Amino acid sequence: MKFFIDTANLDHIREAQQLGVLDGVTTNPSLMAKEGITGHDTILKHYVDICEIVDGDVSAEVVATDFEGIIKEGEALAELHEQIVVKVPMIKDGVKALKYFSDKGIKTNCTLVFSPGQALLAAKAGATYVSPFIGRLDDVSTDGLNLIAEIRLIYDNYGFDTQILAASVRHTMHVIDCAKLGADVMTGPLSAIEGLLKHPLTDIGLEKFLADYRKGNS
Ligand code: G3P
Repeated sequence: MKFFIDTANLDHIREAQQLGVLDGVTTNPSLMAKEGITGHDTILKHYVDICEIVDGDVSAEVVATDFEGIIKEGEALAELHEQIVVKVPMIKDGVKALKYFSDKGIKTNCTLVFSPGQALLAAKAGATYVSPFIGRLDDVSTDGLNLIAEIRLIYDNYGFDTQILAASVRHTMHVIDCAKLGADVMTGPLSAIEGLLKHPLTDIGLEKFLADYRKGNS
């Protein structure tokens, strides 16, 4: 399972990278705005900065919603850095653009996916990643994890190569449940990744080991 961090915060990205378990980064216009990254050139530079911190794929989202605009913007993003994956929304012109990019060998991440039908379309169009938003489904009393299971079943039935990138992961249990369901990738905040570290018995056990060592070696 690949771990992506879902943020535009460079400190959080560095922290996850230093932990040694980071496989990539996802961003979106809201995450950029949250970090105060605004203006076309500043946003592009920020993508390059992120690529220089991590080794893996970095999703950069288009803001155009028409086919020509998505293509133009996506091609420019892809040229920024070899690690850039063009993030395209699940809309009609987005699906057309996924096919276009796929034929050109440009990696894509189909975002804002909330149903198995949308995920099937993304795979048919050749998306590299599909991003089902599990947290936002949970927010509206719909089981987000069930969507991961449905997409896994559909993709396995036909051997689609599109990777299931569980997105809108909010906490550590989402990460564990996505791993159980066979999501190829999860993207979440630093807190969801670091939460995997924690267990009180680890802390108690370590304290005891160190106390015993000190007793015998003081
Ligand atoms: O990866 C998608 C993500 O950024 C959305 O997360 O928490 O805004 O639903 P959230």
